[in-house]
Amino acid sequence: MSLTIENLKVILQNKEILHGVSLDIKEGEFISLLGASGCGKTTLLKSIAGLLEVKEGNISIRNKSVLELPPEKRGTVIVFQDLRLFPHMTVEKNIAFPMALAKVPKNEQKETVKRLLKAVQLPGFEKRKIREMSGGQMQRVALARALAANPKVLLLDEPFSGLDEKLRGEMGRLVKKLHDEWKITTILVTHDIREALQMSDKIAMMSEGSILQYDTPKGMMEHPADEKVRAYFGKINYVEGIVKGGKFTSGLFEAEVDLPDGEYKAGITWFRKGEENE
Ligand SMILES: Nc1ncnc2c1ncn2[C@@H]1O[C@H](COP(=O)(O)OP(=O)(O)OP(=O)(O)O)[C@@H](O)[C@H]1O
Ligand SMILES: [Mg+2]
Repeated sequence: MSLTIENLKVILQNKEILHGVSLDIKEGEFISLLGASGCGKTTLLKSIAGLLEVKEGNISIRNKSVLELPPEKRGTVIVFQDLRLFPHMTVEKNIAFPMALAKVPKNEQKETVKRLLKAVQLPGFEKRKIREMSGGQMQRVALARALAANPKVLLLDEPFSGLDEKLRGEMGRLVKKLHDEWKITTILVTHDIREALQMSDKIAMMSEGSILQYDTPKGMMEHPADEKVRAYFGKINYVEGIVKGGKFTSGLFEAEVDLPDGEYKAGITWFRKGEENE
């Protein structure tokens, strides 16, 4: 297992926030973490990264407990929603930061920054200051900096939530592409069910400090563990069709998709407008 969480309990200011969370994540898997605001998603990521004290339970990375390790020795990295870049510094300095800490030779740092900027589709942006970049560009730099730390586990805490729909989709696809290439075990916190369904090997659905269900996207939709999960994922209707050359065609609609040619079923679900994220 890449990451194993066993019966994790976390107490903050005398209040139990996580009530015995368990998760098993295989090497290279992409997991989405869903759940209402305040249910403990960020708390779980911070615990994994060593930024919070754990009351009970265990966290192992590649089958070794990391509970006694400080954050920088765990092989984890978090990208927070507010990104936490250094605005006055150049893109290059920001991305190289974890490598500078690890005393990677300067020329190697430069090479890696160049490669990462290419990977996040910002080639040649080395000397630009962070404060001179757009929100979407900053998001890419934050992603590159996270990757520069060469993490065993990448933790993404809603890093795209400030972006408009189109950019969000682009960033989602970029993360997925990088994940497919590099196979870094990833947990993505998101409020976007569609994003979770499209991107994940498995989805963990949280409520009030516990995991309600941890399953494949298909399992979540077809066998919801309880009414809460069912309500979240909605009822799925299937439309049969064919994908050819990146286009899904059915009797009802057509859509551009990133799938190999073949016969498919598209799952459609319905939410009352404004209730998508509840
Ligand atoms: N440092 C802290 N001290 C005390 N309570 C905290 C602290 N950080 C978070 N909490 C509480 O823990 C609970 C879980 O918070 P957390 O930030 O993990 O939620 P979340 O699922 O990430 O929510 P959101 O979707 O809004 O980001 C909340 O009730 C929150 O008020
Ligand atoms: Mg949060």
